[in-house]
Amino acid sequence: MLRFSTAGESHGEALVALLSGMPAGLAIDVEFVDRELWRRQQGYGRGGRMRIERDQAHILSGVRHGKTIGSPIAILLANKDWQNWTEALPVEEGDPAKHKRVASPRPGHADLAGALKYNFCEARYVLERASARESAARVAIGAVAKLFLREIGIEVLSHVVTVGAVTLPEPVAWEKIRALHEHDEVLLNCADAAVEQRMKEEVDKVLKTGDSLGGVFEVVAYQVPPGLGTYAQWDERLDALLAAAVMSLQAVKAVEIGAGVAAAFAAGSTVHDEIGYAAKSGFTAFSRTHNNAGGIEGGISNGEEIRVRGYLKPISTLRRPLQSVDFETREPVKAAYERSDVCVVPAAGVAAEAMVALTLARCALDKFGGDSMTETVRNYRGYTEQLKNY
Ligand SMILES: Cc1cc2nc3c(=O)[nH]c(=O)nc-3n(C[C@H](O)[C@H](O)[C@H](O)COP(=O)(O)O)c2cc1C
Repeated sequence: MLRFSTAGESHGEALVALLSGMPAGLAIDVEFVDRELWRRQQGYGRGGRMRIERDQAHILSGVRHGKTIGSPIAILLANKDWQNWTEALPVEEGDPAKHKRVASPRPGHADLAGALKYNFCEARYVLERASARESAARVAIGAVAKLFLREIGIEVLSHVVTVGAVTLPEPVAWEKIRALHEHDEVLLNCADAAVEQRMKEEVDKVLKTGDSLGGVFEVVAYQVPPGLGTYAQWDERLDALLAAAVMSLQAVKAVEIGAGVAAAFAAGSTVHDEIGYAAKSGFTAFSRTHNNAGGIEGGISNGEEIRVRGYLKPISTLRRPLQSVDFETREPVKAAYERSDVCVVPAAGVAAEAMVALTLARCALDKFGGDSMTETVRNYRGYTEQLKNY
């Protein structure tokens, strides 16, 4: 089974990601992994940190002579900012006078709940791990999952649907999303340039006022064969796995598959994707009138594009802070502020791509098995042949 975990704090020495269960013989393109890391650092509305760091994957294990060898893959991402934090966050006891306390919890962040849970008298250690810096580690191993999926024809990308009050009015075709990713500059990763400008104006407004914004991204998985995931057991349903994977990202507060939200308010006759048998391409000749199901029915991929949306709450660190309480005195004070992003929808989309890719890779390996890529790809081809002859 494909499994992964991460370690590391926002201002610690490094992040580490561990991925096990990847078959042997998968070619690893480190430049691709680094480009994915770069993509996570882009977007209008990011904080100062993105200017001081350019993440680079340092592969410690599991890859030799450019290919996976079936053993666990460990990837290290150095935190360049660590050099400024060695005295504030030492592994050893250090000098308490040099610690950087977070004296008043930020509403919306993990500060208060984390301090209560772990019995800390302030929130420094809480935000160090709760911070979305951690998502960089997921993007590194998500890139490995993407390379795996490519071998069986699957691609995963995202685009931005909403920033603040501005929303793309129309669904976006895969080809447009793919074209968006050829750009070497990322503004808000929106497929419509005019709408993207209006999104930028939304960010400009909160930059001026010291506020923050949320939004919606959509992850699209292209050429997923029918048959990943199953209704047979609750925790094997693909929709449930994807929802948990995307919801696990920092600041994501709702996840939608296909047109899930609008579907709840509409009649069945307008929602369900009627079935025909005239498709000229795809895994079978079965065709659909539209894809409101977002590529999943009964917890199983149905051969259409998988579309998953993540809804982000606004960033909780505000330059014009909200009301809070001092951890020590319990007196009313403004919430703590330290350098922060004001809008992260494009970056969250990239992190969600990683989570979707890791989930699909896990389900693909559950279905096709294999300890080497030769075996996995052979099994995949055998299955797609079976679908053609269905
Ligand atoms: C890519 C990304 C970057 C983020 N950057 C910040 C940030 O700079 N400041 C901040 O307060 N929150 C940021 N967040 C959100 C917090 O990490 C998140 O709100 C916090 O950990 C509490 O978790 P929760 O919102 O899931 O409850 C970011 C989230 C993502 C996905």
